[in-house]
Amino acid sequence: MAITDIDALFEHELEDVYFAEHQLTEAYERMASVSSDEDLTAFFESHVEETGDHIERLVEVFERTGRAPQTEECQGIEGLLTEWESFAADNEPGAIHDYYNVVTAMKTERYEQSAYESLVALASERGDDGAMDLLKQNLDEDEETLNDLAKVARTFDYETL
Ligand SMILES: [Fe+2]
Ligand SMILES: [Fe+2]
Repeated sequence: MAITDIDALFEHELEDVYFAEHQLTEAYERMASVSSDEDLTAFFESHVEETGDHIERLVEVFERTGRAPQTEECQGIEGLLTEWESFAADNEPGAIHDYYNVVTAMKTERYEQSAYESLVALASERGDDGAMDLLKQNLDEDEETLNDLAKVARTFDYETL
């Protein structure tokens, strides 16, 4: 379907990120279950909960547009998660796997960050301050997650590899 105005583009991007957040809920549960470091497991578990909050906020944004929540397949996130699944199938849990979990989550959080940055801008352009606030909250939390992951990567003890 051709997208010819900002409203349609906003809805397209909203459905895309709605799909992505659902995929990420499952992916972070899987990452939690195969992380060998208990702090990392706890980190992924807490972001699973936060991702649930993001989905709830997206449902509120859908309500504001007067449309039922629906997903648009997001091949960007699927590609990143397919790569992760194939790594997880070939490798045992351990320090290398932990590092790879962090790297993959950094990629997926960056994807989310870009998606939310544009959604916040589009909501502002449409004059929907309520939607803008909700999307900004998701953006801020994902940026914080990305910063936390980057710190884990920066301080990673390579001696354990
Ligand atoms: Fe999110
Ligand atoms: Fe996230």
